[in-house]
Amino acid sequence: MKLDVVILAAGKGTRMKSFLPKVLQPLAKRPLLSHILETSLSLNAHKVAIVFGHGGDQVQSQIKKEFSDAPIAWVEQQQQLGTGHAVSQALPVLDDDARALILYGDVPLTSIATLVGFQDSVPKDQLGVLTIEMAVPTGYGRIIRGECGQVVRIVEEKDASVAEKAVTEVNTGIMVAPAARLKEWLPRLSSNNAQGEYYLTDIVKLANEGGVAVQAVLVDDPMEVEGVNDKRQLAKLERLLQAKHANHLMAMGATLADPARVDVRGQVEVGSDCFIDVNVVFEGRVVLGNNVEIGPNCLIKDSVIGNNTTIKANSMLDNARLADHCDVGPFARLRPGAELASAARVGNFVEVKNTYLGAHSKANHLAYLGDCEIGTEVNVGAGTITCNYDGVNKHKTRIGDGAFIGSNSSLVAPLEIGAGATIGAGSTITRKAEADALTVTRAKQTTIEGWRRPTKK
Ligand code: UD1
Ligand code: CA
Repeated sequence: MKLDVVILAAGKGTRMKSFLPKVLQPLAKRPLLSHILETSLSLNAHKVAIVFGHGGDQVQSQIKKEFSDAPIAWVEQQQQLGTGHAVSQALPVLDDDARALILYGDVPLTSIATLVGFQDSVPKDQLGVLTIEMAVPTGYGRIIRGECGQVVRIVEEKDASVAEKAVTEVNTGIMVAPAARLKEWLPRLSSNNAQGEYYLTDIVKLANEGGVAVQAVLVDDPMEVEGVNDKRQLAKLERLLQAKHANHLMAMGATLADPARVDVRGQVEVGSDCFIDVNVVFEGRVVLGNNVEIGPNCLIKDSVIGNNTTIKANSMLDNARLADHCDVGPFARLRPGAELASAARVGNFVEVKNTYLGAHSKANHLAYLGDCEIGTEVNVGAGTITCNYDGVNKHKTRIGDGAFIGSNSSLVAPLEIGAGATIGAGSTITRKAEADALTVTRAKQTTIEGWRRPTKK
């Protein structure tokens, strides 16, 4: 039976006090909605209907950017008349022979495993409700069971009697049902209740009346069904998610200086014996080999780092590839296209962009290397700048194996420096520097005889 997912995402999120729609608020630097949408797609959903309302244009353009090929059906709910009304809006796009799973744009951390287990626990022709035990159930819909333990209805807090309020099993909001049944039940909902809303939860009663069994499936981890309404809840979920990422890193064998001070905004793979110091932020896809050491306050984005490589404090890597035994930082900046071969070194205040730095080559201090191809065992002196941009186009600098670039040189590209060449410090090089030769372009040093400092008049 194919699966259609419905994600309710029409809420405004007034309590966020933000111009950004609630479901676009960032968790691990990604919209809340993206988290649950990705999970939905991992369930092999045949279609995902997103019910949008407030900030619809913003939500759609943001999500379409991230999920360009996904089978998303956008459904507008113009007025927020309740969860039942919201799901009703999606009925026309649900296939009659599909199973519908209802999720929430502001409940980002429901896991794939939980949702698979939930679907498996509910026979395909029945209604399933994901529930949780809560010591303090205030605010939630209570699961009301009959004499034989069967779920007979859900009662919302505002409609509940004192006895019903004492029930601690609550509705998470997540449900699964045959789409054809939803098409029968939802048009029959009424808003005759304490909130004047069309409650999705009322379908439990309708299922019972129609002889369709209802299964309540308990979930253990409250984090998985926790919704976000304000910035405090957002921060709480962020920390819970980060704790999960930290545990995962440690399970893979990484040593964390402090599991509470590492942030993963994407996916990180680590080999054995990696050490990650405090305040390291990972973004996108990052792969660390074995025995990699990351110093404090580093930002590592979409990069691959080889075995036995060290990144010292306060360095930034973005789309960089580092081989084994490299040494980077402190205060290094590797920009997109930076590629370091084995045992290359990039030291403090060195910026590297779209540059290949060969094995055992080093740029240890205060340099800018842009659009370069640098051979092996090259020494790039302090203050060396590649002038790769003429104001219109970018040009390449090629430096042969074993070259020595004296400090404070300007290398005006396009340029070639031969293997074994030496560039005298302070030179501005505009033409090819011959291999194995010394090239100097600065004026000769002279001493002016008889010169005196001026005296004050
Ligand atoms: C709902 C459930 C309650 C459950 C609780 C779990 C109902 C009637 N109640 O209550 O049993 O314990 O969730 O958190 O379903 N939404 C729309 N359009 C609407 C109304 C809501 O898209 O017209 C979206 C909201 O943006 C939100 C979600 O549906 O993401 C839940 O709506 P909310 O009003 O917060 O429901 P609760 O009162 O919390
Ligand atoms: Ca709610």
